[in-house]
Amino acid sequence: METASSAVIVAIDGPSGTGKSSTSKAVAAKLGLSYLDTGAQYRAITWWMLNNGIDVTSPAEIATAAAKPVIISGTDPTGPTITVDGEDASGPIRTQEVTSKVSAVSAVPEVRTIITELQRSIAAGAEGGIVVEGRDIGTTVLPDADLKIFLTASPEARAARRSGEVKGSDLAATREALIKRDAADSGRKTSPLAKADDAVEVDTTELTLQQVIECVVTLVEEKRTAA
Ligand code: DC
Repeated sequence: METASSAVIVAIDGPSGTGKSSTSKAVAAKLGLSYLDTGAQYRAITWWMLNNGIDVTSPAEIATAAAKPVIISGTDPTGPTITVDGEDASGPIRTQEVTSKVSAVSAVPEVRTIITELQRSIAAGAEGGIVVEGRDIGTTVLPDADLKIFLTASPEARAARRSGEVKGSDLAATREALIKRDAADSGRKTSPLAKADDAVEVDTTELTLQQVIECVVTLVEEKRTAA
């Protein structure tokens, strides 16, 4: 990947509940890199579709509307932001309604083409380097990333972490919803959730967040030293 001399591009992929966001933000902050949450972008386009009367069960309707919303991501890891048509979307993109619809919207190829282009232009513009987290970053969005990490964890550990984040949520229901969303994200035709052949897999089941952060920071530093 063509970047400034000390710039490093880190791709962090994996299913939900593996600590991807917390790890990516902390690693970026620690190493002075930018940070991009690509899931937030798919959530933002989903939120816009729901607000604008698009039938999200219709891939054709989704495809026709895909280029309409203007999504802007702020890449400071200590305070990432996201706006849609100038409106702050950081709260509404986390609702249950958006979470339950985002896999269907993000499976539409036209949506992926637009969001992938946006992600590539943000990564190319991040002069000091960037940590980009998602599902298809190492395989599709940034196949030439300097370092690719694939985070995993058991479904039980992931459900427990997700329930801890959402007040009053039921563990069994969270586990079911999470498994369903993973199956949709892994099973879609266009750039599914997948580990790149050259990604380093880190199983976080038995690790604390701090241990995962340290592990990834070490891997980035090793890459930088070797470069
Ligand atoms: O990381 P998250 O849970 O906020 O992501 C929300 C959804 O967005 C996820 O279910 C699948 C989709 N997504 C994707 O298809 N590709 C990405 N690079 C990131 C997220």
